[in-house]
Amino acid sequence: MNDGIVDLRSDTVTRPSPGMRRAMAEAEVDDDVLGKDPTADRLERRVAALLGKEASLFFPSGTQANQAAVILHTRPGTEAVCEAESHVFHYEYADAAWLAGVQLHPVASERGALTARDVAAAIRPGDRHHPVTTLVCVENTHNMHGGSVVPMPVMQAIQALARERSLPVHLDGARLWNAAAAAGVSLADVSSCADTVTVCLSKGLGCPIGSLLAGPSGLIADAWSVRKRLGGGMRQVGILAAAGLWALDHNLEGLRADHERARWLARECDDMEGLRADVPDTNIVMIHLEREDLDEEAVASELEARGVRILPVGPGRLRAVTHLDVDDQGIEHCLETLSQVVA
Ligand SMILES: Cc1ncc(COP(=O)(O)O)c(C=O)c1O
Repeated sequence: MNDGIVDLRSDTVTRPSPGMRRAMAEAEVDDDVLGKDPTADRLERRVAALLGKEASLFFPSGTQANQAAVILHTRPGTEAVCEAESHVFHYEYADAAWLAGVQLHPVASERGALTARDVAAAIRPGDRHHPVTTLVCVENTHNMHGGSVVPMPVMQAIQALARERSLPVHLDGARLWNAAAAAGVSLADVSSCADTVTVCLSKGLGCPIGSLLAGPSGLIADAWSVRKRLGGGMRQVGILAAAGLWALDHNLEGLRADHERARWLARECDDMEGLRADVPDTNIVMIHLEREDLDEEAVASELEARGVRILPVGPGRLRAVTHLDVDDQGIEHCLETLSQVVA
């Protein structure tokens, strides 16, 4: 809880803890555009090792890391297959078209998990009438499908298909931490299903800023130039990287508790008259308003007036995300307030 408010809009609303702030203040830094900032270098090596990749590069945002991957894997006038509700398709401002000159080919799925069969059907036949498919994008966990985890066998099948067709796979793992914790597998296991992976330190791990793109060292060396072109080169970036290193040491463990609180929140919401909630795999709860008289904007603003923040995400739908600044007391307060508002 911050300032007496339970903020469940996103796991990006966290504030750096005193320990994280101390680590940032004490970070050893240098100009990362002129050479290598030593703390950023440590973080990049550590994340690459965690993800089982040769190298990684720090980016200011997940959007920029994802779009760098699209630019690196494709060429203008080609097509990338992605899930229909994915971040890369809906929430990156048509950057794939704008920056990479690439058309996205969105494919609808059950719970955010494209199957190899879906992907196979979307890959262009390679004749003279269609664009050429150059990339497959997967999102895990899947944000708009309520933080759903793409099962490992599904990830592996997509990778096998992509290899067979000589296509790279990019994994938008903004919340890969949650995916691995929920599936009980290592970060490297999930990452091994893709050529490049984006991870965000600013989601779930409590950092103020920061994402990384990991992959083969040659490609990540090229990613440096793409990042520069996109205006993402930063100077004493070790101050941000120090927050990331601190988070990896202290905040990965807490994810399971976030997932439990999300399940608790969903269960109780589902029991309230007028509400339905999907059982979450991780930390994102999708709440459906089932009564005609309930409007998502009105419910959200009534909650806000009583100190609870939840995000309206479409007609009759609210999203509540658990994170390290929401404890049991916060969930209790949210449930109590929600039942008053709905009543
Ligand atoms: C799945 C997913 N990918 C990428 C991003 C983009 O991250 P950023 O907000 O740092 O650009 C988000 C942000 O919410 C996300 O949920």
